[in-house]
Amino acid sequence: MLIIDGKKVSLDLKEELKASVDRYRAQTGKVPGLTVIIVGQDPASQVYVRNKAKTCKEIGMVSTVIEMAADTSEEHLLKTIKGLNNDPAVHGILVQQPLPKQIDEFAVTLAIDPSKDVDGFHPENLGRLVMGHLDKCFVSCTPYGILELLGRYNIETRGKHCVVVGRSNIVGKPMANLMLQKLKETNCTVTICHSATPNIAEYTQQADILIAAIGKAGFITADMVKPGAVVIDVGINRIEDASTKSGYRLVGDVDYAGVSAVASAMTPVPGGVGPMTIAMLLKNTLQSFQRTNGL
Ligand SMILES: NC(=O)c1ccc[n+]([C@@H]2O[C@H](COP(=O)([O-])OP(=O)(O)OC[C@H]3O[C@@H](n4cnc5c(N)ncnc54)[C@H](OP(=O)(O)O)[C@@H]3O)[C@@H](O)[C@H]2O)c1
Repeated sequence: MLIIDGKKVSLDLKEELKASVDRYRAQTGKVPGLTVIIVGQDPASQVYVRNKAKTCKEIGMVSTVIEMAADTSEEHLLKTIKGLNNDPAVHGILVQQPLPKQIDEFAVTLAIDPSKDVDGFHPENLGRLVMGHLDKCFVSCTPYGILELLGRYNIETRGKHCVVVGRSNIVGKPMANLMLQKLKETNCTVTICHSATPNIAEYTQQADILIAAIGKAGFITADMVKPGAVVIDVGINRIEDASTKSGYRLVGDVDYAGVSAVASAMTPVPGGVGPMTIAMLLKNTLQSFQRTNGL
């Protein structure tokens, strides 16, 4: 079975992005800038934001983190976003979720200029994705990373049956819409399953490409997978493990040991889809810089 190595691909991609940033710096004297806003002290969010800032700096982009108190008002956050929308040195704006209760996440998504929405959450970007205007939108980073993996591993997708389990706005829905597009790396017949789908195995067993974005450890078992299928595991779940220092370990939505005996190719967790997400965020930021500067 082929292991689709997201860790390696993300390192390759970051090197390519760094080379582009260096070239543009020499050519224009400018570099792409990503600003991340974090509201409150959520420890997981702080780790994500630190990782994004670190990777941004590694590839030579300008990284700015704006930290706001947990009791920040929605009005103040929206005003800050407006300022960033008008700042020509900022090419990407990301507001780390989840946000405190007093802030409406959708209002925040709408406030970000679609041309700087490198998370790809704004309805204009999602709408353009659905309509197939991929060259003029930002695709949300996790589905975009999966597309990049399928492309780099030359996975045949045209006319294949892709089953996506999960319909969240950030993974399942954009993923299914992406696989439906008439592109070299997509062009699939697509089925979407969710928590109200009866007999999910009936659908997953028909998948040539199975994408699991559920949030339930080991949900997809070997008997649910067609022999030879390509299996993409988006899930990141913590399970208790007394043998590790932290007392837990990360597993996907797919039972790796069982399914790897049936699938033809598969992403591991960790080291599959996860590392691609930050790399694609930086790719989107570079794309924003290129569009702004006509490069
Ligand atoms: N690798 C990465 O970079 C990355 C990025 C984002 C997310 N993730 C991980 O991916 C997983 C999914 O994330 P998400 O944000 O999409 O989660 P989410 O918003 O909680 O959505 C989960 C989806 O799975 C469906 N679902 C839940 N239980 C189900 C069941 N028993 N049978 C069928 N469908 C079921 C839900 O259906 P309903 O809509 O009917 O409720 C929902 O559509 C999580 O483990 C998350 O940590 C990883």
